[in-house]
Amino acid sequence: MQAILLVGGLGTRLRPLTLTTPKQMLPVLHRPMLEYAVSGLARHGVDRVVLALGYHDDAFRAAYPDGRCAGVELCCVVEPEPLDTAGAIRFAFEASGMDASAGTFLVANGDVITDLDVGEMLRLHRSAGAEATIHLIAVDDPFRYGVVVTDPGGRVSAFVEKPPGPRSPSSWINAGTYLMEPSVIGRIDAGRRVSVEREVFPAMVADGALWALRQNTYWVDVGTPQAYLRAQLDLLDGRRGPAAAGVSAEASVDAEAVIERSVVMAGAVVGAGSVVRGSAVHSGAVIEAGATVLDSVVGSGATVGRGARVADGTLIGERFTVAAGADLSDARVP
Ligand code: GTP
Repeated sequence: MQAILLVGGLGTRLRPLTLTTPKQMLPVLHRPMLEYAVSGLARHGVDRVVLALGYHDDAFRAAYPDGRCAGVELCCVVEPEPLDTAGAIRFAFEASGMDASAGTFLVANGDVITDLDVGEMLRLHRSAGAEATIHLIAVDDPFRYGVVVTDPGGRVSAFVEKPPGPRSPSSWINAGTYLMEPSVIGRIDAGRRVSVEREVFPAMVADGALWALRQNTYWVDVGTPQAYLRAQLDLLDGRRGPAAAGVSAEASVDAEAVIERSVVMAGAVVGAGSVVRGSAVHSGAVIEAGATVLDSVVGSGATVGRGARVADGTLIGERFTVAAGADLSDARVP
């Protein structure tokens, strides 16, 4: 089966990290986020992935010059301008040479890390004769997402993007992986911005053509600083397979530094008396002596000066410096 991976967004919520690196090329533990998505699809029989690129497309091409990732053939297409999620699907479908004979294909948001069983989704999609099927996950805070209501057989009766008001019609949300028949492409206008969540899915609900599978498996939408850290801490904590090592063998950590539940990437330097907790220190970053980094991300080549404290979801952009003695909480540098 072929898959279209949507990876062309601006990633504004992860700025300034995404000013220099597109979101799906940011490291999660020691590998780009993209590789988790591609290897997850490869485990479920996807053998060709079309990357729907836009913002910073050069970074993807440079990372995979031979057009392969996690054992899968990559096909790169670049929108002339951002076409939003559905516009990107249509553009990628046509520009990569897919056609109706391709049959059912998969679409996924490239910033979702999940252990979804695609096979179970495909069985529902086929037995229902669905035109498209959405993966649903249950969350405590559905208001930030697209909320989906289904009948007992799984047919979608309502799709409400970011529900307003005090009550949500359901705690099941659109988890960002879809199976689609080629006919869905005909529902998307060419050459303009079209949202799959705001336009295409509601229209399909009206036609009774949309189905959804509830599957509460491991799932993180890596859109916010908190989720970006959580995806990495989950790997350290063994919440997905065996617990992983957080500190790269190629990092230099002073014997007098304290590192707890954190990722320290290759070439990073952590000085004496510093504390790094619940955080990610990217490649080549420097945490000077006596500095404290709590629940924050220090971008590659950035420096946290002597005795400085960065905390509570602070993001430090690539090669920027936090002055010695500074005290930052939930900050963005720059
Ligand atoms: P924010 O700006 O922080 O909201 O992040 P984002 O740009 O990633 O937006 P969002 O999380 O809503 O996008 C969901 C998925 O669709 C992500 O994987 C994006 O990379 C992708 N995406 C969003 N808009 C476009 C687009 O216009 N073109 C393409 N190719 N992908 C897109």
